[in-house]
Amino acid sequence: MRTIYLLALLLFPFLAMAQYPLPIPPALTGTEFELHLQKGAREFFPGFTTNTMGVNGDLLGPTLILNKGDLVTMNLINELDEPTTIHWHGMHVSAANDGGPHTVIEAGTTWSPQFTVLDHAATYWYHPHLHMKTAEHVTKGIAGFIIVKDEEEAALELPRSYGEDDFPIVIQSRAFDADMQFIVETAADDVLLVNGVRDPYLEVPAQVVRLRLLNGSTDRTYNLGFEGNIEFFQIATDGGLLGEPLPMDRLQLAPGERAEILLNLNGMAGQSLTLKSFSSELASGIYGAASPSPMPVATIPGYSSNPLNGSDFDILKLNVGSPSVNPITAIPATLVPQNPIPEASAQQTRNLTFQPQQMGPTGMANGPFVINGASFNLDVINFEIPLGNTEIWQLTNMTGISHPFHIHDVQFYVLDVNGAPPPANMLGRKDVVLVPPMGGTVRFITRFEDFADDEVPYMYHCHMLTHEDAGMMGQFIVTGPNATKEPSSTDGLKVYPNPAIDAWNLVFEENTGEEGYFVLRNSFGQTIRQFKSIVEPTVQIPCAELPAGWYIMEVRTGDQNYVLSLLKR
Ligand code: C2O
Ligand code: CU
Ligand code: CU
Repeated sequence: MRTIYLLALLLFPFLAMAQYPLPIPPALTGTEFELHLQKGAREFFPGFTTNTMGVNGDLLGPTLILNKGDLVTMNLINELDEPTTIHWHGMHVSAANDGGPHTVIEAGTTWSPQFTVLDHAATYWYHPHLHMKTAEHVTKGIAGFIIVKDEEEAALELPRSYGEDDFPIVIQSRAFDADMQFIVETAADDVLLVNGVRDPYLEVPAQVVRLRLLNGSTDRTYNLGFEGNIEFFQIATDGGLLGEPLPMDRLQLAPGERAEILLNLNGMAGQSLTLKSFSSELASGIYGAASPSPMPVATIPGYSSNPLNGSDFDILKLNVGSPSVNPITAIPATLVPQNPIPEASAQQTRNLTFQPQQMGPTGMANGPFVINGASFNLDVINFEIPLGNTEIWQLTNMTGISHPFHIHDVQFYVLDVNGAPPPANMLGRKDVVLVPPMGGTVRFITRFEDFADDEVPYMYHCHMLTHEDAGMMGQFIVTGPNATKEPSSTDGLKVYPNPAIDAWNLVFEENTGEEGYFVLRNSFGQTIRQFKSIVEPTVQIPCAELPAGWYIMEVRTGDQNYVLSLLKR
């Protein structure tokens, strides 16, 4: 049936012409979110029902719009009949809130992490991370966007009306079997889904529009551009806005990576343009290029018969309509100041080497792959990193293909790729970087701040999900003098936000009206502030002037003693 369908495409290419409107995921705002992980079904091919998974729906999930500084609560209700996890990819949260493979949400249970949004305005995403099941759960459809907003971004003249001039676009290649069910581990991912549909088109206004691009594919890298090589401007990398919009006509996006771009469509009403992947231009060794490895004998079974590999194909057609009211009509000259971490401030360098588990042509390109000789083991901590450490990670790829390396907890700055300075669009904050094959290297610098936990680790791994599931992953814990799990609340006393930027609010459920004795100490135990006050339901502790770091708050009332650990940003 599948073959007949593909044959029909060859004979009647009009069948492949943008025919479905691009769905824009519903946006959720506020500070409390309810996300139901559920099973569903979709008809991707007429007459065939494909089993799917989604969040608050059949496939994919809502876009979560968060404000920096807000304390948010996520309620993840697992209505699947199997365990999973949900990870906030790119966000800086405590290990216990990070949703890695250790933080399992059993079927029929709810997980409710609570955290302060500390990230810069950018596009992040959420997806499952259960060990050996990540590729399957993402393939079946669990993933969604997170848009973080902040004051720096709000001060710029940028399109930001969700679904009107600011569009989330997730690109995913998928493989289907003869019954049109998803196949998880295969190189036959020859069907392209954009926001969950095939052959999409999108109506856009004739003005500056913003596309938030996410490569949500399991393995495939895209080389994005527009038909006719129309110029566009990259404004953001994985974890933040760039210093200025960068004009370009090609943008390589590996699995897990995000980029925000602006397109100037002034005066183009009535015209249309096509976002494509120019995969014929991808360097060999990148999954998606004509050849999976520069090593001619290195192969991936089934790779060469996938028509997407090494060819140029359409992703999304944009039909330009009339402008909206109050359109943005110019590309801004500058964006936000950049503060890269100086290389000289590094306290330590760590070496991570990617290797095939078995030598030989298939092992070099198809894997499984290991990092520093070891396959992922849930019970082995690979690195212990002191809280506050500034580190250079040197990645060396001794395999036959490129791997998109991703690390949790932090954003990093790329120092060099194969020894040379990175291109301008890789200079911003990143959490995924594609490491070239055959001895290729990447060095990045980052700092492990704010969160220490002596039990729950953070992950680093290849973001080709089949590689990750097959063991190309490791884990680290951040250790610190206050290796508390995370900032605390205690029975009868809650604190928000925590971490805080301007002030902590202590909310008392008991003892209100009594006299309380308040002491705030720093992490060396020195008293910073002490005062007596009648316990109000909410007592505010300003902290804007305090240096960033950990603090201990003690409150004594008539019959109770509270101790809280507080984090100042
Ligand atoms: Cu997007 Cu550890 O993952
Ligand atoms: Cu992540
Ligand atoms: Cu990989």
